[in-house]
Amino acid sequence: MFRSLSQMLAIDHPIIQAPMAGVSTPELAATVSNAGGLGSLGIGASDVVQARTAILKTQALTSRPFSVNLFCHQPAKRDEALERAWIESLRPLFAEFGGRPPEVLSEIYQSFIGHEAMLEMLLETAPAAVSFHFGVPDRDVVQAFRDKGIVTLATATRPEEALLIQANGVDVIVAQGFEAGGHRGMFDDKAHDTQLSTFALVQLLKKQVDLPVVAAGGIMDGAGIHAMLSVGADAVQLGTAFLLCPESAADDGYRQRLKFSRLHQTEMTHAISGRAARSLENDYCRHGRIVGQHAVPAYPVAYDIGKALAGLAKSHGHQGYSAHWAGQGVNLIREMPAAELLQTLVREAGL
Ligand SMILES: Cc1cc2nc3c(=O)[nH]c(=O)nc-3n(C[C@H](O)[C@H](O)[C@H](O)COP(=O)(O)O)c2cc1C
Repeated sequence: MFRSLSQMLAIDHPIIQAPMAGVSTPELAATVSNAGGLGSLGIGASDVVQARTAILKTQALTSRPFSVNLFCHQPAKRDEALERAWIESLRPLFAEFGGRPPEVLSEIYQSFIGHEAMLEMLLETAPAAVSFHFGVPDRDVVQAFRDKGIVTLATATRPEEALLIQANGVDVIVAQGFEAGGHRGMFDDKAHDTQLSTFALVQLLKKQVDLPVVAAGGIMDGAGIHAMLSVGADAVQLGTAFLLCPESAADDGYRQRLKFSRLHQTEMTHAISGRAARSLENDYCRHGRIVGQHAVPAYPVAYDIGKALAGLAKSHGHQGYSAHWAGQGVNLIREMPAAELLQTLVREAGL
């Protein structure tokens, strides 16, 4: 029997609040879920204790389904000479704020691939859904979630990734277009980027895979939702649209930039983290443009120094090196509580 994606996820409206590591919170996810969408936690940058705490807190705030997102990147290819050169290239920027860069860099996040303790914790706490970014776990891990009744989703930026996702038994594909804010979910970050738009990718995937497809990237209002559902998307996933909700963890500097610049430019940059990510254009993007992608160490090693520089600059009141991720639709952003935003989106889209 055919089940719609909303039935599969047991949600009222086919709207997913995107997982956003460092920005989505238990309050945001629970509010969206309580309003009939699917809230998400981004735990890709968390350890097991932090992740468990966030899941338990969300479960205390809602009895509705929500999703938990994991990073499935390949281990970083370390290159000592490149890392040293990168530290030197950033030294003058640290000096501008009276600081010094770290002497060595480290891989600050552990991938979910092969992370037994994280898997065990997820199977025990059993959120309704888990989603994967930057890759997909082996079939037996996906099957372990299915055996627990946990729905699985994974990001694809091109048809080849979608076919791998399908082959590994995942239930739902999140089609992430080039417009999207935050990190691009490409499995191989060194591969040529086809830069498919959300509009083109959703339609391609609907033809090439047999799984439900969620459209992600550049969707900010009911008209965008309606457009994506019209071209075949089974649901939509919005990240940037939720950044100004009071329930998000975006800090004041981020909020100010989102609110008070009416003509935002966004840029896909490797410089901040070592992987392609769409950010509000800032000093870090400009530095990355000058030195080029090949000067940047692998993800998440580059993010180690990226966070150090952002923290130092911020302590001097300068926001220009922060990871202010945002999608191309950012100029359409609205500031309202998450429940009101979800109701507004449902009404505008005529759902
Ligand atoms: C601040 C921010 C953080 C993000 N973090 C994650 C993440 O942790 N995991 C993930 O799968 N996607 C992440 N994304 C990407 C979203 O899942 C989604 O693809 C994107 O937000 C859709 O584009 P939009 O921002 O234009 O709505 C993030 C996006 C933003 C804006």
